[in-house]
Amino acid sequence: MILGIGTDLANIDRISGTLERFGDRFKNRVFTKIEQAKAERRKDVAGTYAKRWAAKEACSKALGTGLAMGISWKDMSVSNLRSGQPVMEVTGWAKDRLEALTPHGHEAVIHCTLTDDHPWAQAFVVIEARPITQSSLDS
Ligand SMILES: CC(C)(COP(=O)(O)OP(=O)(O)OC[C@H]1O[C@@H](n2cnc3c(N)ncnc32)[C@H](O)[C@@H]1OP(=O)(O)O)[C@@H](O)C(=O)NCCC(=O)NCCS
Repeated sequence: MILGIGTDLANIDRISGTLERFGDRFKNRVFTKIEQAKAERRKDVAGTYAKRWAAKEACSKALGTGLAMGISWKDMSVSNLRSGQPVMEVTGWAKDRLEALTPHGHEAVIHCTLTDDHPWAQAFVVIEARPITQSSLDS
């Protein structure tokens, strides 16, 4: 069953301006070391950050919380599989929220997809609950 969906559209030029203005303060507040390493070695630094910004906003919507003051942005983080597919990982308050949403006897799976086409970066996040079966416990 679907527990939540979220989407966000981020303006790459706005993210670029914030990066110029606040630099490391912005990066360290919002993005994990993995996200920063990915963005900083890219040609399109701002676009890479903007996709991850959109992913965090989309994830907060899928969790049903939105981005309330005081939450840690880094508790929702994007890494990539070798294939390039993005993976959303939650920790801290976001993990607690995910566990609270997940019905007993189920495991939560977060699906995330990203795209960009200047000046826009877009993310969709879907949270699915899958029943825990004996075979899923064995594997
Ligand atoms: C996946 C693919 C269609 C992306 O298309 P695109 O128009 O270049 O890029 P978009 O702006 O639409 O999307 C980029 C995002 O797609 C996502 N993506 C990349 N590879 C993906 C994959 N295999 N599955 C799902 N999502 C993928 C990433 O989140 C990426 O953004 P990020 O690298 O900042 O995380 C394209 O890269 C492709 O066909 N790749 C083939 C597989 C490949 O070359 N893999 C190389 C590693 S083996």
